[in-house]
Amino acid sequence: MIAEHSFLSLFGLSAKQILGDSGSSSASSSNSISSTNNSTNNNAAKAVSANNVLTQTVATNSNPVVKIIRPPRLAAYAAADFTKLSAEKRARVAVTNAFKESFFKMTRQYQVFGIVGYGGNGVVLSAKERLPEGSSLSVAIKIIYRRTLADSSDSEDIGGTTDERVPAEISALQCLNRSCKSSSVLKYLDHWKDAKHYYLVTQLFGSNWLKEFPDFKLPRLEFQSVSHSKVVRTHTLAVSLGACDLWAWSVAHRTHVQRTSNTTLLPLTPIKHIVRETAKALNAIHKSGFYHGDVKVENILVEYPQAPGSNKTINGSNCPNVMLSDYGHTRAAEKGIKRYGTQEISPPEFIEGSPFLGTVHLDGRRSDVFALGMVAFVLLSDGGDIPDACRSAERGSLDYQSLCANGNECFPFNDKEIENMPDNALDLLCRMCAMDPAKRPTLDQVLSHQWLQ
Ligand SMILES: Nc1ncnc2c1ncn2[C@@H]1O[C@H](COP(=O)(O)OP(=O)(O)OP(=O)(O)O)[C@@H](O)[C@H]1O
Ligand SMILES: [Mg+2]
Repeated sequence: MIAEHSFLSLFGLSAKQILGDSGSSSASSSNSISSTNNSTNNNAAKAVSANNVLTQTVATNSNPVVKIIRPPRLAAYAAADFTKLSAEKRARVAVTNAFKESFFKMTRQYQVFGIVGYGGNGVVLSAKERLPEGSSLSVAIKIIYRRTLADSSDSEDIGGTTDERVPAEISALQCLNRSCKSSSVLKYLDHWKDAKHYYLVTQLFGSNWLKEFPDFKLPRLEFQSVSHSKVVRTHTLAVSLGACDLWAWSVAHRTHVQRTSNTTLLPLTPIKHIVRETAKALNAIHKSGFYHGDVKVENILVEYPQAPGSNKTINGSNCPNVMLSDYGHTRAAEKGIKRYGTQEISPPEFIEGSPFLGTVHLDGRRSDVFALGMVAFVLLSDGGDIPDACRSAERGSLDYQSLCANGNECFPFNDKEIENMPDNALDLLCRMCAMDPAKRPTLDQVLSHQWLQ
C-alpha cells in the first residue's frame, strides 16, 4: 500500500509546465497509460487501428515507454451499426452539415471555433454566442445525432415543459437545471433542431489539458458554407479528442508524475477531491429523482481553477473544478434502468446471465454509484485503465456467474490492479462496486466514508 501524499503544487503549474516542453504522448483504443522500463528506442511509432483510432508508443533512453490508450467511447461507437463511419468522420460530417442546415445559427448567432470532443451520440463545438452591444458568451454546442431519436428509449419525453418532443438528453438537462441546485451540473442555455440534427447549447467548461501534446492534435476541419445570398465562406475548425475531460486530465497528470517521480500513480489529494466533487454532483441529481446513467472519465469535465490572467485561484484552493456532462442517458429514477450508458464499464447487473436483468426494477442511482467506483478505480490504478474483468465481460468471455465465482461480494479486481491502493480507498471502492446493487452505499454514505474526509 502506498502512503497518502499531496502533489498540490502540481495544480499551481500551467498546462505547459505540467506537461513539460519536450516529450511526446500518444493515443489508442482505451483510456490508459501503461509503462514498461525496458526500451531504448527513442522513435515514436504511430499506427491507425481498425476503428480508425490513433495509436502511438513513445520511448526514450531516459523515460519509460508511455502508451496512452483511447477512452471506451470510441470502441462503443465502432460497435454501433447505424453507420460505417468512424466516430471522428461522423463528427466531421455532422459539423459540415450543421453549417448547411443551420446556417444562421452557426454563423450569425454563434461564432464557432472548434470541435472539443465527440462520442457515440454527438459532437461538441466550442463557440461564442454574439450578444447585443458587442458582448459574447462562451458556449458548447452539442450536435445530437438523429439516430439517437430513432431509438425510442432515447426519445422518450421525460417531463420537460416544452410541448415539442425533444431528445431525452435535452429535457433531462432542462429538468435538472430547474430541480437540482448543484453547480456541477452543466448549465442549459438553448436548443433547436434542423432537418439533420438536434442542437443543445450549454456552458463551455474545462481547461485544455492536452494543449502541449502535439500527438493528440487531429487534422483541422476545413469546409465551405454558402449563405442565402450565395456568399461562400471557408471555415477552419480545430478538432480535439476531448481535451477538457477527466480522461485528458489524467493523461496529462500521469505523464507529469511519470517524468518527475518515475511513477504512473496519480497523487491522492486531487483524486479524492475529484471523486468527492463528482459524488456531490451525482448526489444532487439523485436527490432530484434522476440517475445520470453514463458516469465515466470522459463525461466529467475538469477546469484548472485559476482565473485567466490572474494569479488568484477561483475557489480558494488549487484543486480543479469538476462538472458532470453528457445527460444522454439521464432518466427519472422511478422509471428504472435497463442498461448502462457505456457497455465497457457496465455495472454487473446488466451483464449477460445477471439475475437482475429483465425481471427486477433496477434503480439507476445504484448503477451510478458503481460507475463512480469505476472512475475512482481508473484514477487510483497504476495504468489508468479499467479493470481486466470489465474488458472480459464486455468481450463476452466472462459472464455473470464467473464474476460471482468464489462468492465475490465485490466486483472482481485482480491483485495486481489494487496492490498500490490505500486500504481505506479500497474499502470504499469495494463497497461502491458491490455485485448486488442493493448493497452499494448511497452517495450520502459515500461522502461520509473515511477515505473522502
Ligand atoms: N460543455 C462542454 N465543454 C467542454 N467539453 C465538452 C462539453 N461537453 C462535452 N465535451 C467534450 O466532448 C466529449 C463528447 O461529448 P458527449 O460526452 O456529450 O458526447 P456523447 O456522444 O454523448 O458521448 P458518449 O459516447 O459518451 O455517449 C466529452 O467526452 C467531452 O470531452
Ligand atoms: Mg460522453
